[in-house]
Amino acid sequence: MRIAVVGSGTMGHGIAEVAAMAGMEVKLIDISWDILNRAKERMYDSLKRLHERGTIRETPDTVMSRIEISVSYDVAKDVDFAIEAVPEILELKRKVFQELDRVVPKESILATNTSSIPISDIGEITSRKEKVIGMHFFNPPPLMKLVEVIPSKYTSEDVTRYTVELAKKMGKTPVRLRVEVPGFVSNRIFLRLLQEACREVESGEATIEEVDSSARNKLKLPMGIFELADYVGLDVAVDLWKVIVERGASDVKCSSYKERVDRKELGVKTGKGFYTYPAPGKYSKVSLPPESKVPPERIISLAVNEGAWLIENNIVNAEEIDTVMRLGFNFPKGLLEMADELGLDKILNALREIHSRGYEAYSPNPLLVKMVSQGQTGKSSGRGFYTYGKT
Ligand code: 3HC
Repeated sequence: MRIAVVGSGTMGHGIAEVAAMAGMEVKLIDISWDILNRAKERMYDSLKRLHERGTIRETPDTVMSRIEISVSYDVAKDVDFAIEAVPEILELKRKVFQELDRVVPKESILATNTSSIPISDIGEITSRKEKVIGMHFFNPPPLMKLVEVIPSKYTSEDVTRYTVELAKKMGKTPVRLRVEVPGFVSNRIFLRLLQEACREVESGEATIEEVDSSARNKLKLPMGIFELADYVGLDVAVDLWKVIVERGASDVKCSSYKERVDRKELGVKTGKGFYTYPAPGKYSKVSLPPESKVPPERIISLAVNEGAWLIENNIVNAEEIDTVMRLGFNFPKGLLEMADELGLDKILNALREIHSRGYEAYSPNPLLVKMVSQGQTGKSSGRGFYTYGKT
């Protein structure tokens, strides 16, 4: 199988690496040889680590031999599938898709790894909108098991099924959305975590380190929320925030991310964001205080509210949301499973309390209100987002 990946940045090079590890022949396209050579080094470095750990049997050289780098789209003339992973600028994506539409065989599928731009908007500029689909990977792609598959309103069922199977062939677990929503499942929930983290700090309730300590030490997340924002890239976080809110999600006033982006402090990629890293592009775990006064149910309250919204609107079910958070963000357990354990009544109280202070986005979702009013307060009551047997 032959696959083209356009864009060799943080996500693109990782996706190319994943496809090559799965035995596919990969054409990696970008605008300069410098960028491509850097991507090659990063793929090699990652493959070396995976090989040393025994995750892959093949040597890095063997896997790399399946990847061809190019500054021309011509190498994509006989691919079966193409994935775009360029920056989140609609005009740029449109240009890439016009090129791919011109070069890639007419029967092949064109996928986008966009984190938030509607797939329908991208598909519309091609002559094959029923063959354009969202295939959303997570950073770092070689380690994160999730792929969200997002059919647009035009995508055919065959194309969606093919993409789900392709994700499996790449060793990933696909979660397929029933209907496309801005930010999909992952980034709608991620946005809510970013918003609450920001509100905590900008309202003076907690420090950045306290929020992150609670996320890591109480919720047992692999990274704090600000640490994760740094890891993903603060420019990416600001972009996805803007795109999702512009398309109807409620906003929370916040300047912490944007002001750092304005200072060109983009997180791990520039070596500085909320925290300082050993070198640009080099992540190392940040050190955090062991104790924090931030209640864990407050940190996830807005995200859980969003989960209820996704269920209420029949986009995905509770298990699918939890798969997204476990496999896309390496949560030790699902977000809604955590909510059930902490108590949905507590989550609802946190939302109500913040909402009463004038934060409109915290208006509790009717599904959550109904669950709590019916006594479905989570694990302790035997029913919440899940049903629990007596122990
Ligand atoms: N390739 C291969 N190996 C890698 C790697 C890569 N790209 N990155 C890290 N590793 C390896 C390290 O070498 C290390 O291996 P070792 O155990 O053999 O020494 C191991 O992974 C652990 O790495 P670290 O010691 O550096 O740090 P952590 O223990 O914190 O793990 C992490 C790093 C796996 C990234 C973990 O912190 C994590 O899961 N964080 C959450 C990541 C996340 O949420 N990603 C999703 C972001 S959202 C997104 O991408 C969507 C977009 O649209 C915004």
